[in-house]
Amino acid sequence: MTEGRNGEQALLSVLKGERPWRRPVWFMRQAGRYLEEYRRVRAQAGSFLDLCYSPELAAEVTLQPLRRFDVDAAILFADILLLPQAMGVDLAFEAGEGPRLAPVRDMAAVERLSDARPAAEALAPVYETVHILRRELPGHATLIGFCGAPWTVATYMVEGGSSPERLQTRMAAMRGEAWLDALMDKLVEASAAYLARQVAAGAQVVQIFDTWAGDLGDGLRERYVTGPIRRIVERMKAMGADVPVIGFARGIGAAQPAFARETGVAAVGCEASMPVGFMRDTLAPEVVVQGNLDPLAVIAGGTVLEEGVRRLLTIPKERHIFNLGHGFRPETPVENVERMVALIRELDDAG
Ligand code: CP3
Repeated sequence: MTEGRNGEQALLSVLKGERPWRRPVWFMRQAGRYLEEYRRVRAQAGSFLDLCYSPELAAEVTLQPLRRFDVDAAILFADILLLPQAMGVDLAFEAGEGPRLAPVRDMAAVERLSDARPAAEALAPVYETVHILRRELPGHATLIGFCGAPWTVATYMVEGGSSPERLQTRMAAMRGEAWLDALMDKLVEASAAYLARQVAAGAQVVQIFDTWAGDLGDGLRERYVTGPIRRIVERMKAMGADVPVIGFARGIGAAQPAFARETGVAAVGCEASMPVGFMRDTLAPEVVVQGNLDPLAVIAGGTVLEEGVRRLLTIPKERHIFNLGHGFRPETPVENVERMVALIRELDDAG
């Protein structure tokens, strides 16, 4: 069954504090290399970035997982690094090596960045993708827009790409470098305008991805994680974009309740290491929780997958968005994803 009563969208119901017609389910990286139909379109586009900037093809890969799996949302196909690129940073994705960016490590480099171009023109193809998707999506599916959080985007800008420890960015934060604060300010403004444009084009919910939020302890979390995300939420509202925000501050653990209160997000995404008991008993009474099945459990399948699903279904469905603790990996077997969704639907109906 994929039709909500009266075209109701389960994800929106939960985010508005209402009882959903069923437990909302979607997955981070639900579009991607584990799907053969994605690999075909990606080859047709030429490169990953060409795919992101081709509205018809980006919309097509966004819709692919919804044809296979009975999920409740589509997430815009794009990347968090399109924003720094639109601000003026050179960006390339090299085969098998991940992203490469021209490093930003001083005030002069920050001053060269534009926080106006992302909303004005550079990201127009992304808004066009959103527009196509709102027309094409089935009635039960909610369209999620997104951006990276300032801290996470800054780590890629400062390090010049992926980095296992992000030491230069963490040391700049530890030393309280003025250029890092200036970079945060520009990212807050550009991100809020970018999200507001996605909402104007048809995004119904937005998620802010702070993949590396767990890098920072108590003394620094307000300045680089909680504060910037709160300011994005406030600026979006001021720009007229009043939609629920999901904050995914990965790895902050027991700081999630304070993060939720202090940012004003409607839901928090939880990493795979967060105890489900903490999500259910401590977090869910305060804020909607999203997550947190380990993506590796979906690769392993069998009883770890089944037990992981059962554990998450102990969270009341009006306070939970079923998801992973991080995105699907390319080696994920599609049949395990099918099994997982079938199991969620079957056990939830029975419970
Ligand atoms: O389905 C979805 O979730 C929507 C699309 C999406 C992508 N990236 C597509 C993508 C989203 C929401 C992202 C977010 C993103 N991008 C994050 C935050 C979430 C996370 O995963 O932690 C980060 C850190 C990035 C930056 C990024 N993009 C890296 C480091 C890489 C290279 C590593 C890799 O997995 O290849 C990417 C590339 C990327 N973004 C791919 C996809 C489908 C793979 C590109 C390909 O087809 O080769």
